[in-house]
Amino acid sequence: MGALRFLYDCDPGADDALAMLLALGRPDALDMIALTCVAGNVGLEPVVNNARRILELCGRRDIPVYSGAARPIMASRGRTSIMHGADGLAGSTLPFPTMPLADGHAANEISRIAREEGRLHICATGPLTNLALALLLDPDLPDFISAITIMGGAAFCPGNTTPLAEFNFAVDPHAAAIVFDSGIPITMIGLDVTRQATVTDNMIRQVQAIDTTVAREAAHLLINYGSKDPCLHDPAAIAWMLKPEMFETVQAHVTICTDSGPAAGQVVAAVSERHLAGRTTNCTVVMLVIAEEFRRLFVNALR
Ligand code: BDR
Ligand code: CA
Repeated sequence: MGALRFLYDCDPGADDALAMLLALGRPDALDMIALTCVAGNVGLEPVVNNARRILELCGRRDIPVYSGAARPIMASRGRTSIMHGADGLAGSTLPFPTMPLADGHAANEISRIAREEGRLHICATGPLTNLALALLLDPDLPDFISAITIMGGAAFCPGNTTPLAEFNFAVDPHAAAIVFDSGIPITMIGLDVTRQATVTDNMIRQVQAIDTTVAREAAHLLINYGSKDPCLHDPAAIAWMLKPEMFETVQAHVTICTDSGPAAGQVVAAVSERHLAGRTTNCTVVMLVIAEEFRRLFVNALR
């Protein structure tokens, strides 16, 4: 079997950048055919710059980068995250990118690429605004998407942005609701599992021992982002695509709360027969990871 062709929708973001390094370190298994950007951790401009800074670092100027939504569907401006530093890459010294942005809006391009591919896999590790817009613009799009791997949500644990909501879903709850209602098979890598996928001092030492510019950047991100948030949220989503057997999951029917109050962006996950109340499940919720194996996978990809 060849490498899995996938489109990466993200908001780099230090852990999105680490996820890119993980994915690009495994061309045997993953083929990132396009990258679409959404405002999230930082504004859209630094996001599109950071995505290209990382691709250039990896010598992958061939991957087209499309700019996308600058704000959530219903809010006039999104919230950003303090975890990633003002530039979004924890004060990285990577140069300003020289590769151009590709023409077209992310939402339209998701639709075009999915139709060209026939059955596209999407990995999304930012607010889901681009995907939701694509689904609104192109109602037949679900027929052309095989699966979506999402980093977002907190099914059975507290949020990290509000008591009930994880950052990506808190930023754009309406977008998340549209995506979960789409009928596309979804795997949700939420805080339930990413809080286990932590960076350790030993992992940092192993990365520091690798003598490449990519590993040096990874170490910078792991140290500086990791000191604020030790959870490798977005790399965990890529790890799921690389090695699902190191995770444990449950099947659930997931609904996203779109109330404007304190529950905005909350995941309501029904698992038991009683809570499902006749509904079919629409999501694989990832619950557990063998953390040591995850760290090994990451370090080996950098090697
Ligand atoms: C998610 O929010 C962002 O800050 C991270 O990049 C990750 O995608 C974790 O809640
Ligand atoms: Ca992210």
